[in-house]
Amino acid sequence: MHFLITAGGTREYIDPVRFISNASSGRMGCALVRAALRAGHKVTLITAPSSQHVPAGVTLIKVETASEMFQAVKRHFAKCDCLIMAAAVADYAPARPAKTKMKKTANLLTLKLRPTADILKWAGSHKNSGQVVAGFALEDKALKRRAEKKMLEKNLDMIVANTPEAIAAERSTVWIKTACADWTKIENASKQTIARKIIRTIERR
Ligand code: CTP
Repeated sequence: MHFLITAGGTREYIDPVRFISNASSGRMGCALVRAALRAGHKVTLITAPSSQHVPAGVTLIKVETASEMFQAVKRHFAKCDCLIMAAAVADYAPARPAKTKMKKTANLLTLKLRPTADILKWAGSHKNSGQVVAGFALEDKALKRRAEKKMLEKNLDMIVANTPEAIAAERSTVWIKTACADWTKIENASKQTIARKIIRTIERR
C-alpha cells in the first residue's frame, strides 16, 4: 500500500518571527511511518516542525503552516491508498499576519484568528471507494462519543481517540474504532506499538 501520513504541529505566523503552535512532538506520526515502512509499504510523510528523526526510506515533504499542509495533502492524496492525519493542525491562524516584526507597546494586544481548512474533512469527502482515511481525535471528555461524531462528520474509515496526556508523551492509551467494528482499547503502550496496531488494522480492511 501507499501511505500518506502527516505529523508534527503546524505553525501559524503572527509576524515573520513569531507563531502560534502546539505541543505536538511528531512522535506518533513518525512511529506510524516506521511501522508502515517495516511492514513493506511505500510512505510519503508530510510533516510540520517536529523533534523526531525522520526514518530513512520515506518520501519527505516539509511544511510549516496548516495552509501549506493542506496544499501538500491535496497534491498527494489521489496517489495514496491510505491517508493518516496524525498532525496536530492548528484550527485557527492569524487573520492578518504582520509583514514585518511587530514592535512592542504598553497596550493590550488583540489577535484576530481565522479558522483554517479542515484537511481531514476535505479528504473524507474526496476519497474514492478504495481509499482509507484515518484521523485522530483529541478529547478531554466524552472521548468515544465525540470521536464517533468526528468520524461520522469527517466520513472517516478509522478514528484513533486519545486524551491531552498523549501529546508529546512516550507512551499513551488510545481507543481505536473502524467504520465496521466496535472500539478497541490499547492501554499504556509505546507509540510504536500503537502505530503497529493501527497499520495492521488498516491492512486488514
Ligand atoms: N485536522 C485536520 N485539519 C484541521 C484540524 C484538524 O485535518 N484544520 C485533523 C487532525 O489531524 C486530526 C483530526 O483532524 O486527525 C482531529 O483533530 P482534533 O483537534 O481532535 O479535532 P478538530 O476536528 O480540530 O475539532 P476540535 O478541536 O473542536 O475538537
